[in-house]
Amino acid sequence: MCISGSLRRGSSNTALLREAARLYGGDHRFADLRLPLYDGDLEGASGLPEDVLRVTRQIEAAEAVVVSTPEYNKMLSGVLKNALDWISRTKPFVLQDKPVAILAAAAGQSGGARARYSLMMALAAFRPRFSTGPEVLIAGSGAAFDAEGRLSDPRSVAVLGQAMDRLRSEATA
Ligand SMILES: Cc1cc2nc3c(=O)[nH]c(=O)nc-3n(C[C@H](O)[C@H](O)[C@H](O)COP(=O)(O)O)c2cc1C
Repeated sequence: MCISGSLRRGSSNTALLREAARLYGGDHRFADLRLPLYDGDLEGASGLPEDVLRVTRQIEAAEAVVVSTPEYNKMLSGVLKNALDWISRTKPFVLQDKPVAILAAAAGQSGGARARYSLMMALAAFRPRFSTGPEVLIAGSGAAFDAEGRLSDPRSVAVLGQAMDRLRSEATA
């Protein structure tokens, strides 16, 4: 399943995840991270929102999870951190031992390297199985996709393909 840290319709991270899903093969679902801001009072009054439970069920059912984050001020997006905070309130821990690959796409030259690293730290608490595939970072993300939403740079496609091959083999081993 795919989790994009950007809600934007024209998001390059969502486009990158579509490419990742195509290269992984098979069915895939996208999480909808339009969740309320985490608020202990809300949780105390009404429990976990249905939208949060839907995401956790999707993660639970998935063979593997691919997360892609934009870089906001050198870190993962708040949208993604908010979703992880909600997910951490659910039992059982659906991300524990789940094969997870982390990608980033950002406007800057580093391709969101710092955001990707901060996402890895944010996910570490969940004890997933981080995929050992190559790091996928898409720099200059606004110009990295063609009109059909395909990654234009063949080297990026090749690296993403290697990362998805690795994730698939780890998830199905
Ligand atoms: C609040 C904010 C902070 C940003 N900070 C960074 C940054 O630190 N590094 C960077 O490369 N791009 C930064 N950008 C630009 C994003 O990389 C760019 O908007 C990117 O396209 C977002 O991903 P998306 O296309 O999936 O929405 C920032 C954008 C916003 C809105």
